[in-house]
Amino acid sequence: MKLAIVGTGKMGRAVETAAEARGHQVVARVGRKENPDGQALTAERLAGAEVVMEFTGPDAVVANLIRLADVGIPVVTGTTGWLDHLPDVETRIQAGGGALLHAANFSIGVQVLLRAAREMARALRGQAGFHATLVEWHHREKVDAPSGTALKLRDALAAEDGERDWPVTSLRTGWIPGTHAIEVDGRFESLSLVHTVRDRGVFADGAVIAAEWLRGRTGVFTFEDILPGDEP
Ligand SMILES: NC(=O)c1ccc[n+]([C@@H]2O[C@H](COP(=O)([O-])OP(=O)(O)OC[C@H]3O[C@@H](n4cnc5c(N)ncnc54)[C@H](OP(=O)(O)O)[C@@H]3O)[C@@H](O)[C@H]2O)c1
Repeated sequence: MKLAIVGTGKMGRAVETAAEARGHQVVARVGRKENPDGQALTAERLAGAEVVMEFTGPDAVVANLIRLADVGIPVVTGTTGWLDHLPDVETRIQAGGGALLHAANFSIGVQVLLRAAREMARALRGQAGFHATLVEWHHREKVDAPSGTALKLRDALAAEDGERDWPVTSLRTGWIPGTHAIEVDGRFESLSLVHTVRDRGVFADGAVIAAEWLRGRTGVFTFEDILPGDEP
């Protein structure tokens, strides 16, 4: 498959490595300087690409996705911190008959964590003697806080147990690619669900798997749509 990469930072480079390892070819790389307001994202600049991989930042992603909706090439984006704009983007993608797959986290382990979290919250309903906290750790360059994954976890937990507080603490330090923990503390016992990323290659692999899945489809999807097993 031929891919274009928009955003050539840590994730863009990791996606290129993962794509090549799976036998794909990167035919275009678009960086920030040539792309104010998504201006570089034209059919000519992306010629030959079957899927665009978008990993930029919260300030750039919405303009990029709207441009890409007009160009009509399927897009996988892992950029976080923009979901307030999802309804607008979704409308543009649907209007153009295109395809978008977005996910705050392309690791299979985090998807399993989400399912486990929902189950745990259900089991804790009505148990007033427990306090819950979400904690997430990321490297010091990460722009958004809380992380998109922490917000998704919090929403999933609150949907199952809306009576309980699910506060999030974000820590930014060092080079941590991403750790998420749900801690539940009772007077005489505690319970932890923790997911730790050792290498951001896990996100890159997941994003390329998502691109393989998205090719030939139309509509708006998330990574949860492509995982095997019962839907949570
Ligand atoms: N979904 C997942 O599994 C997952 C995993 C990890 C990270 N992420 C998210 O992915 C995004 C990127 O992360 P990262 O670690 O790769 O960050 P990064 O290293 O800062 O890279 C972002 C890149 O995007 C470029 N950029 C900014 N605006 C652009 C534009 N308009 N057009 C093209 N490129 C543009 C930046 O260029 P400059 O350096 O010149 O500014 C930079 O090279 C973040 O939102 C992060 O939270 C998602």
